[in-house]
Amino acid sequence: MGGCLSPAWLWRNCPAVRAGIPYAAAVFTAIRTRRLALRPVTMGDLDDVHAFQRRPDVCRWMLGNGPRSREQSRESVAAMSREDGLRVEGDVLTLAAEVDGRVTGTVELVWRSQADRTAEIGYVFNPEFSGRGLATEAVAALLGWGFDEFGLHRVYGRCHASNEASARLMTRLGMRCEARHVESYLFRGEWADRLVFAVLAREWLSRSATPRG
Ligand SMILES: CC(C)(COP(=O)(O)OP(=O)(O)OC[C@H]1O[C@@H](n2cnc3c(N)ncnc32)[C@H](O)[C@@H]1OP(=O)(O)O)[C@@H](O)C(=O)NCCC(=O)NCCS
Repeated sequence: MGGCLSPAWLWRNCPAVRAGIPYAAAVFTAIRTRRLALRPVTMGDLDDVHAFQRRPDVCRWMLGNGPRSREQSRESVAAMSREDGLRVEGDVLTLAAEVDGRVTGTVELVWRSQADRTAEIGYVFNPEFSGRGLATEAVAALLGWGFDEFGLHRVYGRCHASNEASARLMTRLGMRCEARHVESYLFRGEWADRLVFAVLAREWLSRSATPRG
């Protein structure tokens, strides 16, 4: 793999770089993985999304007001359905992860910095589907798109220090735990620690190129 991240390699393999700008303004269409279809959220996803947004175990470590009513889920789905591409810094790309016609969860990429070619990853899955690696598969696909297609340099993810499932997922994907920000945010009225994980394009690409058994 030596030299695969040279400017020439990036030119050949990364459409965003070929486009002559750090990023190609990207309106997302779809990704297929081994088991999942990843595509923008639509209002037709309301039932499936509400099925997990209303669960206390799903909201446990997330910022916000806890389990959502159907009306709150409707607003959330409407907002996510507008998050269909990364056009300017600050935009969010949210994708539904579908298996056999059901939305198992959502993954998102938040474009944090154009200058630093950096984005933040996020994910929420229905526990009904947990333990099968579906969230890992969905996040891996979105990371791949972010690096290969969109031309990112670094992607990071953050979670409450007690959110073990989330920390395990990022570790499983080869993201490095870079920091524990002690009492860095107020979580349900208490100071909480937050873990920061990250991976660079060159790390992701060399990992993707390494055959795994
Ligand atoms: C974070 C979250 C998405 C993780 O879900 P998950 O079910 O653990 O993740 P996956 O679907 O990738 O499944 C991974 C598990 O399946 C196992 N697994 C089985 N087959 C697998 C496969 N083919 N590939 C990868 N993992 C596989 C893994 O070993 C892992 O088990 P472990 O947790 O006991 O180590 C989920 O807990 C969630 O949505 N939580 C609520 C929302 C939230 O907190 N979001 C993050 C905010 S920071």
